[in-house]
Amino acid sequence: MEKYCDLGSKKTIMKDMIRENREFLKDTLRLTYDFKQTDQNRGIKSPTIQKPLKNGQKIIELPKKNLYSPSGNKDLVSAILYRESNRKYSLEPLTLAEISFLLWATQGLRGSLHNGHAFRVVPSAGCRHSFETYIAAIHISGLKQGIYRYLPIEHGIVLEKEVENLSEKVVQATLGQSFAGEAGAVFIWVCIPYRMEWRYGPAAHRVIAFDAGHICQNLYLAVQAIAAGTCAIAAYNQSLMDELIEVDGEDEFTIYLSPVGKL
Ligand SMILES: Cc1cc2nc3c(=O)[nH]c(=O)nc-3n(C[C@H](O)[C@H](O)[C@H](O)COP(=O)(O)O)c2cc1C
Repeated sequence: MEKYCDLGSKKTIMKDMIRENREFLKDTLRLTYDFKQTDQNRGIKSPTIQKPLKNGQKIIELPKKNLYSPSGNKDLVSAILYRESNRKYSLEPLTLAEISFLLWATQGLRGSLHNGHAFRVVPSAGCRHSFETYIAAIHISGLKQGIYRYLPIEHGIVLEKEVENLSEKVVQATLGQSFAGEAGAVFIWVCIPYRMEWRYGPAAHRVIAFDAGHICQNLYLAVQAIAAGTCAIAAYNQSLMDELIEVDGEDEFTIYLSPVGKL
């Protein structure tokens, strides 16, 4: 087969890292790992599909009326045709109804909880859905600036903390990507790897990365239905972002984000 990349010309450390990381993309682990050892197969109860509320936290219900009737383009074919990354947003705030629609379109449930899992609008390996969605609410009408978390079971959000100068903190945590701070809201997806590891052990991490892509693609399509834009961000400062949303960086950490703003 023709060689597209000659690893021989690269420095040894780089070469080893590239080789190792390429292995991560393959499904070879499946043949070496004894799946009888997973927590699921050892009879350990499945982790919850949603993080519990902290003491004193109150659920803010998201508008459900007209959830499936956003005002913008609802034609799937043109949503696919015109999908693009948008880094310029207007000053118009997002409404709670728009945030409600986008949260449903990216992580909403499409059925009730059943034996420790619930189907959602996006696919997930083994239906494990190992993510929580945090929202940095920079400019959402009716919401104080701060970090909120989506509760798919209730279709509500909960205030995690109010944050001053949120826009600046978001830009800093995204390594100076200024458009992120000009958005109405930043969707921040954190991963709780154990939800997937419970079922797949060390084979969990590759599929977690796949699953993150499904969520963001739905956001790219859904923003068009509310005349808004988004742009995926995978380049950020891991510890600053985890600190901003107050996750521990080990059992729960940021994996992907996408700012959303009206066009
Ligand atoms: C996994 C992933 C990571 C990305 N990370 C960033 C990023 O950190 N900053 C940014 O400005 N764009 C980022 N993008 C957006 C890409 O630059 C963009 O998708 C690409 O240029 C193609 O443009 P299009 O989305 O309009 O087709 C990312 C896209 C993906 C899918």
